[in-house]
Amino acid sequence: MKNEQVIAVIGCGRIAQNAHFPAFSHIEGLRVKYACDIIEEKAKKMKEQYAFVEQVITDYHVALNDPEVQAVYVLTPNYAHYTVTMDALRAGKHVFCEKPVTVNYALSCEMAQEAEKQGKILNIGVCNRYHKSVEMLEQMNREGRFGKLYHIYCSFRSFRSIPGLGGPFTTKAQSGGGVLIDWGIHFFDLILYILGDAKIQNLTCDAYSEMAKDMKSYRYNSMWAEDTADVEHGTNDVDDFITGYIRTDRASISFNGAWAQNIKQNEMFIDFLGDQGGARLIYGKRFEFYDGKTLETFAPEYDIPDMYLQESIAFLESVRTGVKNRSNIERVLESAKLLDALYASAAKRRELEVR
Ligand SMILES: NC(=O)c1ccc[n+]([C@@H]2O[C@H](COP(=O)([O-])OP(=O)(O)OC[C@H]3O[C@@H](n4cnc5c(N)ncnc54)[C@H](O)[C@@H]3O)[C@@H](O)[C@H]2O)c1
Repeated sequence: MKNEQVIAVIGCGRIAQNAHFPAFSHIEGLRVKYACDIIEEKAKKMKEQYAFVEQVITDYHVALNDPEVQAVYVLTPNYAHYTVTMDALRAGKHVFCEKPVTVNYALSCEMAQEAEKQGKILNIGVCNRYHKSVEMLEQMNREGRFGKLYHIYCSFRSFRSIPGLGGPFTTKAQSGGGVLIDWGIHFFDLILYILGDAKIQNLTCDAYSEMAKDMKSYRYNSMWAEDTADVEHGTNDVDDFITGYIRTDRASISFNGAWAQNIKQNEMFIDFLGDQGGARLIYGKRFEFYDGKTLETFAPEYDIPDMYLQESIAFLESVRTGVKNRSNIERVLESAKLLDALYASAAKRRELEVR
């Protein structure tokens, strides 16, 4: 078939089931030759659900050794991103790897270098760069609609909803961190993108892990990834609240993020403050823009899974043409560097210069 592309999907958990496989079903000419998961039932479930899935495997090396496979999707937990991606690049495959790049900046740089060395595309799942509202704000900034965009404030705070308590999400060695690396990455990555690939100059940050110090007595309102929780024997050594201030070469950014808080509210928005205009983006949804005279609401007709479809279409196009796009790792390293620097500042409890 013309334009046929053959991929393998490694990791068939929540993001695979809820976002990527539904997106694949809208891409003509795409063959998912392998659905792979170390828990075979999860891969089997994808084959049962989607006729375009050809084979189920539990060892991803089978897909890497198959010359017909052009690209792989790495949809595993954070701790496996590095190993699986490096193996895939070295096997000559293009890679789409979910966010965050991996558990720290040094390993993220190694992944970027390996992609460069192998001459392969490595894209990261910074899906918000394909959200219509984000695309519109990025364009509005380029067109000067904000005037001088001097400050951005963001809040990603939720009421008592630490994910998978005691499991990989709350074990730093496996996740790289808590609410900052899990939610913050989405917010900061899209902010740096809208600012036009802003570069970080200096920052300060405080991180707290207060809400589930005693895992057994923590009461929650919601807990996604509950199947991975291990309150009896697991670990919780990551941030559940994060706050700080960042200076970039474009604008300053202040933020608060909470996986859990004793405030019975969820608050997910980003304010863009310019001298000619300002916008509030309700995360994942609409935004309002005020230019000093009129308040306009932009509510793009946009289904959330659609951003996953757009990022896959763009990735597969990059694989086809070799042209790097907006979610190529080279353009995501700055937000990976930012996460590391914020955690370092919190550990040292002081402001840091970032170069
Ligand atoms: N872009 C987004 O909006 C978004 C949203 C949620 C999660 N994510 C990211 O997606 C990744 C996966 O998250 P999830 O919530 O789907 O996790 P999950 O635990 O539900 O799924 C991960 C799957 O990977 C499998 N796996 C682990 N190691 C493997 C290996 N070596 N080979 C094959 N399979 C393996 C696990 O068995 C599991 O089924 C994480 O990095 C997360 O940060 C991104």
